[in-house]
Amino acid sequence: MLSTQGPRIEAARLAQLTAEIYDLKRKRDAVILAHNYQIPEIQDLADFVGDSLGLSQQAAKTPAKTIVFCGVHFMAETAAILCPDKRVLLPDVKAGCSLADSITLKQLQDWKAEHPGAVVVSYVNTTAEIKAETDYCCTSGNALKIVQSIPEDREILFLPDQFLGSWVQKMTGRKNMHIWMGECHVHAAIPPLRIDEKMKEFPKAELLIHPECGCLTPYLDRVIRQNGSSQLKIASTEGMIQRAASSPVDEFVVATEIGILHRLKKENPTKTFHPIESEMSCRYMKMITVENLHNALKEDQFHITVPDEVALKARTAIDRMVSIY
Ligand code: 13P
Ligand code: SF4
Repeated sequence: MLSTQGPRIEAARLAQLTAEIYDLKRKRDAVILAHNYQIPEIQDLADFVGDSLGLSQQAAKTPAKTIVFCGVHFMAETAAILCPDKRVLLPDVKAGCSLADSITLKQLQDWKAEHPGAVVVSYVNTTAEIKAETDYCCTSGNALKIVQSIPEDREILFLPDQFLGSWVQKMTGRKNMHIWMGECHVHAAIPPLRIDEKMKEFPKAELLIHPECGCLTPYLDRVIRQNGSSQLKIASTEGMIQRAASSPVDEFVVATEIGILHRLKKENPTKTFHPIESEMSCRYMKMITVENLHNALKEDQFHITVPDEVALKARTAIDRMVSIY
Protein backbone atom coordinates (compact mmCIF):
# COMPACT_ATOMS: atom_id res chain seq x y z
CA MET A 1 0.00 0.00 0.00
CA LEU A 2 1.30 3.49 -0.89
CA SER A 3 0.92 6.25 1.65
CA THR A 4 2.16 9.81 2.19
CA GLN A 5 5.10 8.26 3.96
CA GLY A 6 6.02 5.60 1.41
CA PRO A 7 5.12 1.96 1.05
CA ARG A 8 4.88 0.15 4.39
CA ILE A 9 2.89 -3.03 4.14
CA GLU A 10 1.63 -5.16 1.30
CA ALA A 11 -2.16 -4.80 0.67
CA ALA A 12 -3.16 -8.44 1.26
CA ARG A 13 -1.18 -8.59 4.51
CA LEU A 14 -2.74 -5.30 5.65
CA ALA A 15 -6.24 -6.63 4.95
CA GLN A 16 -5.56 -9.84 6.89
CA LEU A 17 -4.05 -8.02 9.90
CA THR A 18 -6.84 -5.44 9.86
CA ALA A 19 -9.52 -8.15 10.09
CA GLU A 20 -7.65 -9.82 12.96
CA ILE A 21 -7.13 -6.51 14.77
CA TYR A 22 -10.89 -5.77 14.66
CA ASP A 23 -11.59 -9.24 16.01
CA LEU A 24 -8.99 -9.02 18.81
CA LYS A 25 -10.20 -5.53 19.69
CA ARG A 26 -13.72 -6.82 20.20
CA LYS A 27 -12.55 -9.81 22.28
CA ARG A 28 -10.39 -7.63 24.53
CA ASP A 29 -12.94 -4.78 24.75
CA ALA A 30 -10.21 -2.45 23.49
CA VAL A 31 -10.13 1.03 21.98
CA ILE A 32 -7.30 2.16 19.68
CA LEU A 33 -6.13 5.75 20.19
CA ALA A 34 -3.63 7.19 17.67
CA HIS A 35 -1.68 10.43 17.57
CA ASN A 36 -1.78 12.62 14.45
CA TYR A 37 1.89 11.69 13.72
CA GLN A 38 1.21 7.97 13.38
CA ILE A 39 1.66 6.26 10.00
CA PRO A 40 -1.46 6.42 7.77
CA GLU A 41 -2.32 2.72 8.21
CA ILE A 42 -2.45 3.12 11.99
CA GLN A 43 -4.55 6.29 11.77
CA ASP A 44 -7.02 4.47 9.51
CA LEU A 45 -7.29 1.58 11.99
CA ALA A 46 -7.78 3.78 15.07
CA ASP A 47 -11.06 4.57 16.82
CA PHE A 48 -9.84 8.08 17.53
CA VAL A 49 -7.00 10.14 16.03
CA GLY A 50 -5.98 13.39 17.63
CA ASP A 51 -3.51 15.62 19.44
CA SER A 52 -2.14 15.04 22.95
CA LEU A 53 -5.04 16.85 24.61
CA GLY A 54 -7.75 15.09 22.60
CA LEU A 55 -6.17 11.69 23.20
CA SER A 56 -5.99 12.26 26.96
CA GLN A 57 -9.62 13.37 26.97
CA GLN A 58 -10.64 10.29 25.01
CA ALA A 59 -8.66 8.01 27.36
CA ALA A 60 -10.34 9.62 30.37
CA LYS A 61 -13.85 8.94 29.07
CA THR A 62 -13.65 5.65 27.18
CA PRO A 63 -15.78 2.82 28.58
CA ALA A 64 -13.40 0.21 27.03
CA LYS A 65 -11.39 -2.03 29.38
CA THR A 66 -8.17 -1.79 27.34
CA ILE A 67 -6.59 1.24 25.68
CA VAL A 68 -4.06 0.52 22.94
CA PHE A 69 -2.04 3.71 22.64
CA CYS A 70 -0.53 4.26 19.20
CA GLY A 71 1.78 7.08 20.15
CA VAL A 72 4.79 7.42 22.44
CA HIS A 73 5.57 6.35 25.99
CA PHE A 74 4.60 9.52 27.88
CA MET A 75 1.17 9.45 26.21
CA ALA A 76 0.52 5.89 27.36
CA GLU A 77 1.74 6.80 30.86
CA THR A 78 -0.66 9.76 30.95
CA ALA A 79 -3.53 7.46 29.96
CA ALA A 80 -2.47 4.96 32.66
CA ILE A 81 -2.58 7.74 35.29
CA LEU A 82 -5.97 8.98 34.08
CA CYS A 83 -7.42 5.46 33.95
CA PRO A 84 -5.96 3.38 36.82
CA ASP A 85 -8.60 0.67 36.32
CA LYS A 86 -7.85 0.14 32.64
CA ARG A 87 -5.13 -1.81 30.91
CA VAL A 88 -2.99 0.55 28.78
CA LEU A 89 -0.88 -1.07 26.05
CA LEU A 90 1.90 0.51 23.96
CA PRO A 91 2.77 -1.61 20.89
CA ASP A 92 6.50 -0.75 21.10
CA VAL A 93 7.89 0.01 24.54
CA LYS A 94 10.92 1.77 23.00
CA ALA A 95 8.73 4.53 21.51
CA GLY A 96 10.11 7.40 23.61
CA CYS A 97 10.42 11.17 23.10
CA SER A 98 13.57 13.33 22.89
CA LEU A 99 11.68 16.28 24.40
CA ALA A 100 10.51 14.27 27.42
CA ASP A 101 14.15 13.16 27.87
CA SER A 102 15.39 16.76 28.01
CA ILE A 103 14.77 17.16 31.76
CA THR A 104 15.49 14.74 34.62
CA LEU A 105 13.77 14.54 37.99
CA LYS A 106 16.94 15.78 39.75
CA GLN A 107 17.18 18.78 37.40
CA LEU A 108 13.56 19.72 38.10
CA GLN A 109 14.00 19.32 41.86
CA ASP A 110 17.09 21.57 41.78
CA TRP A 111 15.26 24.17 39.64
CA LYS A 112 12.32 24.19 42.06
CA ALA A 113 14.71 24.65 44.99
CA GLU A 114 16.11 27.77 43.27
CA HIS A 115 12.56 29.20 42.94
CA PRO A 116 10.63 28.27 46.07
CA GLY A 117 6.90 28.92 45.71
CA ALA A 118 6.95 29.00 41.90
CA VAL A 119 4.13 27.27 40.02
CA VAL A 120 5.43 24.41 37.84
CA VAL A 121 3.81 24.09 34.40
CA SER A 122 4.94 21.01 32.47
CA TYR A 123 4.20 20.23 28.87
CA VAL A 124 2.54 16.80 28.58
CA ASN A 125 5.72 15.60 26.82
CA THR A 126 7.32 14.66 30.16
CA THR A 127 7.75 11.47 32.18
CA ALA A 128 5.29 10.52 34.93
CA GLU A 129 7.88 11.33 37.61
CA ILE A 130 8.24 14.89 36.24
CA LYS A 131 4.45 15.24 36.21
CA ALA A 132 4.42 14.15 39.86
CA GLU A 133 6.51 17.28 40.66
CA THR A 134 4.21 19.50 38.56
CA ASP A 135 1.28 21.79 39.45
CA TYR A 136 -0.26 22.07 35.97
CA CYS A 137 0.29 19.94 32.88
CA CYS A 138 -0.49 21.49 29.51
CA THR A 139 -0.45 20.58 25.85
CA SER A 140 0.20 22.82 22.84
CA GLY A 141 -3.61 22.98 22.55
CA ASN A 142 -4.17 24.66 25.94
CA ALA A 143 -0.78 26.03 27.13
CA LEU A 144 -1.91 29.66 26.72
CA LYS A 145 -5.11 29.12 28.73
CA ILE A 146 -3.27 27.23 31.47
CA VAL A 147 -0.69 30.00 31.94
CA GLN A 148 -3.42 32.66 31.80
CA SER A 149 -5.30 30.82 34.57
CA ILE A 150 -2.37 31.22 37.02
CA PRO A 151 -2.49 34.40 39.14
CA GLU A 152 -0.26 37.18 37.72
CA ASP A 153 1.85 37.50 40.86
CA ARG A 154 2.94 33.83 40.89
CA GLU A 155 6.31 32.97 39.40
CA ILE A 156 6.11 30.15 36.79
CA LEU A 157 8.62 27.45 35.88
CA PHE A 158 7.68 26.27 32.36
CA LEU A 159 9.22 23.07 31.02
CA PRO A 160 10.66 21.37 29.06
CA ASP A 161 10.15 22.97 25.60
CA GLN A 162 11.94 26.28 25.10
CA PHE A 163 10.12 27.17 21.84
CA LEU A 164 6.63 26.45 23.16
CA GLY A 165 7.66 28.38 26.30
CA SER A 166 8.82 31.43 24.27
CA TRP A 167 5.56 31.44 22.33
CA VAL A 168 3.46 31.23 25.51
CA GLN A 169 5.53 33.99 27.12
CA LYS A 170 5.16 36.31 24.10
CA MET A 171 1.45 35.66 23.68
CA THR A 172 0.58 36.08 27.36
CA GLY A 173 3.10 38.87 28.05
CA ARG A 174 4.02 37.00 31.22
CA LYS A 175 7.15 38.52 32.82
CA ASN A 176 7.74 36.14 35.76
CA MET A 177 8.02 32.95 33.68
CA HIS A 178 11.24 30.92 33.57
CA ILE A 179 11.67 28.54 30.65
CA TRP A 180 13.60 25.25 30.55
CA MET A 181 15.92 24.98 27.51
CA GLY A 182 14.67 21.59 26.26
CA GLU A 183 13.65 20.83 22.68
CA CYS A 184 12.23 18.18 20.38
CA HIS A 185 14.87 16.99 17.88
CA VAL A 186 12.29 16.96 15.08
CA HIS A 187 10.82 20.45 15.55
CA ALA A 188 14.08 22.12 16.61
CA ALA A 189 15.82 21.04 13.40
CA ILE A 190 14.00 23.42 11.00
CA PRO A 191 16.44 26.21 10.01
CA PRO A 192 15.17 29.71 11.00
CA LEU A 193 15.14 30.98 7.40
CA ARG A 194 13.01 28.09 6.14
CA ILE A 195 9.75 29.99 6.77
CA ASP A 196 10.81 32.86 4.47
CA GLU A 197 12.03 30.39 1.83
CA LYS A 198 8.74 28.50 1.85
CA MET A 199 6.64 31.68 1.81
CA LYS A 200 8.56 32.75 -1.33
CA GLU A 201 8.04 29.35 -2.93
CA PHE A 202 4.29 29.28 -2.14
CA PRO A 203 3.29 32.95 -1.77
CA LYS A 204 -0.47 32.27 -1.55
CA ALA A 205 -0.21 29.46 0.98
CA GLU A 206 -1.08 29.70 4.64
CA LEU A 207 1.69 28.46 6.92
CA LEU A 208 0.53 26.15 9.72
CA ILE A 209 3.23 25.94 12.34
CA HIS A 210 3.53 23.96 15.57
CA PRO A 211 4.72 25.95 18.63
CA GLU A 212 7.48 23.37 19.26
CA CYS A 213 9.21 24.59 16.04
CA GLY A 214 12.61 26.22 16.51
CA CYS A 215 12.13 28.37 13.39
CA LEU A 216 9.11 30.13 14.92
CA THR A 217 10.86 32.37 17.46
CA PRO A 218 12.18 35.05 15.00
CA TYR A 219 8.64 35.50 13.61
CA LEU A 220 6.73 35.85 16.86
CA ASP A 221 6.81 39.66 16.97
CA ARG A 222 5.46 39.84 13.43
CA VAL A 223 2.62 37.41 14.21
CA ILE A 224 1.65 39.34 17.34
CA ARG A 225 1.77 42.72 15.51
CA GLN A 226 -0.55 41.34 12.85
CA ASN A 227 -2.91 40.15 15.58
CA GLY A 228 -4.08 36.90 14.02
CA SER A 229 -4.40 38.24 10.46
CA SER A 230 -0.98 36.86 9.49
CA GLN A 231 -0.50 34.13 6.86
CA LEU A 232 1.23 32.22 9.64
CA LYS A 233 -1.03 30.26 12.02
CA ILE A 234 0.41 28.72 15.18
CA ALA A 235 -1.49 25.65 16.37
CA SER A 236 -1.37 22.22 17.96
CA THR A 237 -1.71 19.34 15.51
CA GLU A 238 -5.48 19.25 16.06
CA GLY A 239 -5.61 23.05 15.70
CA MET A 240 -3.97 22.62 12.29
CA ILE A 241 -6.61 20.09 11.23
CA GLN A 242 -9.37 22.51 12.25
CA ARG A 243 -7.72 25.52 10.62
CA ALA A 244 -7.16 23.69 7.31
CA ALA A 245 -10.87 22.83 7.15
CA SER A 246 -12.15 26.31 8.07
CA SER A 247 -9.62 28.46 6.20
CA PRO A 248 -10.71 30.17 2.95
CA VAL A 249 -7.23 29.37 1.59
CA ASP A 250 -6.69 26.12 -0.34
CA GLU A 251 -2.90 25.76 -0.15
CA PHE A 252 -0.84 25.25 3.03
CA VAL A 253 2.75 24.82 4.14
CA VAL A 254 2.81 22.53 7.16
CA ALA A 255 5.55 22.91 9.78
CA THR A 256 5.28 19.84 11.95
CA GLU A 257 5.90 16.09 11.79
CA ILE A 258 4.86 14.68 8.39
CA GLY A 259 2.41 12.12 9.83
CA ILE A 260 -0.20 14.87 10.03
CA LEU A 261 -0.31 15.17 6.22
CA HIS A 262 -2.40 12.01 6.01
CA ARG A 263 -5.37 13.46 7.90
CA LEU A 264 -4.98 16.91 6.33
CA LYS A 265 -5.20 15.42 2.83
CA LYS A 266 -7.90 12.88 3.68
CA GLU A 267 -10.20 15.44 5.30
CA ASN A 268 -9.51 18.20 2.73
CA PRO A 269 -9.26 16.40 -0.63
CA THR A 270 -9.52 19.60 -2.69
CA LYS A 271 -6.74 21.42 -0.82
CA THR A 272 -2.95 21.16 -1.23
CA PHE A 273 -0.45 20.63 1.60
CA HIS A 274 3.33 21.05 1.38
CA PRO A 275 5.57 19.84 4.24
CA ILE A 276 8.08 22.48 5.35
CA GLU A 277 10.69 19.67 5.36
CA SER A 278 10.02 16.31 3.73
CA GLU A 279 12.29 14.46 6.18
CA MET A 280 10.57 15.90 9.26
CA SER A 281 9.72 12.53 10.71
CA CYS A 282 9.76 11.38 14.36
CA ARG A 283 11.47 7.99 14.59
CA TYR A 284 9.67 7.27 17.88
CA MET A 285 6.19 7.84 16.45
CA LYS A 286 7.11 5.65 13.47
CA MET A 287 8.00 2.70 15.74
CA ILE A 288 4.31 1.79 15.90
CA THR A 289 3.41 -0.49 13.00
CA VAL A 290 0.38 -2.52 11.98
CA GLU A 291 2.33 -5.64 12.90
CA ASN A 292 3.19 -4.54 16.42
CA LEU A 293 -0.32 -3.14 16.97
CA HIS A 294 -1.63 -6.59 16.02
CA ASN A 295 0.90 -8.20 18.36
CA ALA A 296 -0.04 -5.85 21.20
CA LEU A 297 -3.65 -7.00 21.01
CA LYS A 298 -2.77 -10.66 20.49
CA GLU A 299 -0.14 -10.93 23.25
CA ASP A 300 -1.64 -8.27 25.56
CA GLN A 301 1.60 -6.24 25.55
CA PHE A 302 3.33 -3.92 26.46
CA HIS A 303 1.44 -3.07 29.61
CA ILE A 304 2.31 0.49 30.74
CA THR A 305 1.96 1.12 34.45
CA VAL A 306 2.91 3.97 36.77
CA PRO A 307 3.71 3.34 40.47
CA ASP A 308 0.75 4.36 42.66
CA GLU A 309 2.63 7.02 44.63
CA VAL A 310 3.85 8.70 41.39
CA ALA A 311 0.42 8.43 39.72
CA LEU A 312 -1.33 9.92 42.72
CA LYS A 313 0.97 12.96 42.75
CA ALA A 314 0.78 13.44 38.95
CA ARG A 315 -3.00 13.10 38.76
CA THR A 316 -3.97 16.62 39.88
CA ALA A 317 -1.72 18.26 37.27
CA ILE A 318 -3.11 16.01 34.52
CA ASP A 319 -6.73 16.55 35.61
CA ARG A 320 -6.16 20.30 35.32
CA MET A 321 -4.78 19.81 31.81
CA VAL A 322 -7.76 17.75 30.68
CA SER A 323 -10.30 20.21 32.08
CA ILE A 324 -8.81 23.54 30.87
CA TYR A 325 -9.21 23.96 27.08
P1 13P B 1 0.19 17.92 19.78
O1 13P B 1 -0.37 16.87 18.89
O2 13P B 1 -0.47 17.91 21.11
O3 13P B 1 0.17 19.25 19.11
O4 13P B 1 1.72 17.52 20.10
C1 13P B 1 2.72 17.34 19.23
C2 13P B 1 3.78 16.42 19.70
O5 13P B 1 4.94 16.65 19.49
C3 13P B 1 3.44 15.19 20.37
O6 13P B 1 4.57 14.52 20.64
FE1 SF4 C 1 8.67 13.79 21.08
FE2 SF4 C 1 9.29 15.39 19.07
FE3 SF4 C 1 8.59 12.90 18.56
FE4 SF4 C 1 6.73 14.65 19.46
S1 SF4 C 1 7.82 14.72 17.51
S2 SF4 C 1 7.06 12.53 20.16
S3 SF4 C 1 7.98 15.91 20.81
S4 SF4 C 1 10.41 13.55 19.70
